[in-house]
Amino acid sequence: MQQKVIIAKNLYYTYETGNKRVEALKGVDFSVDNGEIFGFIGPNGAGKTTTIKLLLGILISKNGELAIFDKSPSNSNTRQTVGYMPEIANYYRYLTPVELLIMYGNIFGIDKDLLHKRIKILLELVDLEEVANRLMRTFSKGMMQKVSFAQALINDPDLLILDEPTGGLDPVSRKRMRGVIQDLKEKGKTIFFSSHELSEVELVSDRIGILHKGQLLAVGSAKDLLGEKEEGQSLESYFLKMIEERV
Ligand SMILES: Nc1ncnc2c1ncn2[C@@H]1O[C@H](COP(=O)(O)OP(=O)(O)OP(=O)(O)O)[C@@H](O)[C@H]1O
Ligand SMILES: [Mg+2]
Repeated sequence: MQQKVIIAKNLYYTYETGNKRVEALKGVDFSVDNGEIFGFIGPNGAGKTTTIKLLLGILISKNGELAIFDKSPSNSNTRQTVGYMPEIANYYRYLTPVELLIMYGNIFGIDKDLLHKRIKILLELVDLEEVANRLMRTFSKGMMQKVSFAQALINDPDLLILDEPTGGLDPVSRKRMRGVIQDLKEKGKTIFFSSHELSEVELVSDRIGILHKGQLLAVGSAKDLLGEKEEGQSLESYFLKMIEERV
């Protein structure tokens, strides 16, 4: 039987600020299999980042169930096996990529020699080796995204959670990142990512979840979702139709 890496049942989340309540998630159910690439799409404000923060244990759902590798997201062993690329690469910019990656490697307690080898490999992987020792305050948005992707891989995670990983990347870098994600899958890793780049999502995902106003409208492979529709329909046109019908 295929092991479930993520099991989410009936997730609710409400933000409460002052006297304002925002119901960001209203009963979300899904699971992700071992070795699967799961693409998470939905309009701005649908609740994708909120779901991701629940998966990471940054936010806690009062209802429902959530298990990552059969454990709570906030379990310290679980955290060791998860890599996370946030939506906004908000790192301290008076560091170089190497210094930032050393800092994250130390948080995970990675042995010094292994860490230095891994940093070299990762910076080559994201095509930043030439600026490895330059202060990040001089970096462009796309360069910061690449640093952030390398950071997410520093602990060689079994589950990689990426919140809009290709945002701000040029087409060549996007293609390259897609290749890296596919290589990680080949190595048995599980990838959960959100994106607005629907053609990328369609190309790379084994299954796709469509979130809208805190509810999942559909989950399935691109073939399952588009299968019964007109020939040649893209995920983008399917998505637009589905969302526009509900506005
Ligand atoms: N810290 C917060 N306080 C109050 N409301 C919040 C907070 N963070 C998110 N929300 C609200 O929760 C809802 C879901 O937001 P979320 O960031 O999860 O959406 P998203 O699907 O990731 O959107 P995007 O595609 O723009 O990144 C939105 O209505 C948003 O305004
Ligand atoms: Mg978001």
